[in-house]
Amino acid sequence: MPDFTNKDPASTQFWDERFEQAFTPWDKGGVPQAFKEFVRQAPAPLTTLIPGCGNAYEVALLARAGWDVTAIDFSPAAVQSARAALGEWGGHVLEADFFRFIPASPLGLIYERAFFCALPPTLRNDIVARWAELLPAGALLAGFFFFDDAPDASPKGPPFSIRRQDWQHLMMSHFELIEDHEVRDSMPVFAGKERWQIWRRRSS
Ligand SMILES: C[S@@+](CC[C@H](N)C(=O)[O-])C[C@H]1O[C@@H](n2cnc3c(N)ncnc32)[C@H](O)[C@@H]1O
Repeated sequence: MPDFTNKDPASTQFWDERFEQAFTPWDKGGVPQAFKEFVRQAPAPLTTLIPGCGNAYEVALLARAGWDVTAIDFSPAAVQSARAALGEWGGHVLEADFFRFIPASPLGLIYERAFFCALPPTLRNDIVARWAELLPAGALLAGFFFFDDAPDASPKGPPFSIRRQDWQHLMMSHFELIEDHEVRDSMPVFAGKERWQIWRRRSS
């Protein structure tokens, strides 16, 4: 592993360094199977936001299927990398901070992968509150979440795992869980601890 100077995953420089040195062990190089299935089975396209998008492979899938998709990342190096990876779809990627970004139109979906678990646990309440603010009642949060229930699970990250019980507790006031299953095509860094989940924004 390269010797990085920035140790704070809440800062843009932390992620810039990793993209610049091509140290991205979370990067799948493509779209995970469960999300492909979700898009294939969706009754209609959803206006979608992808926060902390990294290389944003999902953008090409969604744009080709006619979905209105915006992917954001606050790291200039990540945005540059995503635009290079996406070619003609690169214009869907914006440099923006999730905590400040205001979507151009109401969202039907926020897609999550390796963003929640990338940020320090101290920001968890803020992330969930922001998801709740961005999604109207009935809209969906769908994606991949990284769990570890072991009492001695390391708080070191990223990625930072969360206990299932703590996660349920965090989410239940704004969201209801409507789908939850294991993931078979995880990257090694998440293997055995990653689940696909869909949450629906409650009306109050
Ligand atoms: C572990 S990477 C995951 C990238 C991508 N979601 C994936 O699945 O490959 C986490 C990403 O979140 C971005 N990020 C962290 N905090 C952010 C924030 N407040 N606003 C926007 N992006 C952020 C980082 O720059 C980084 O690209």
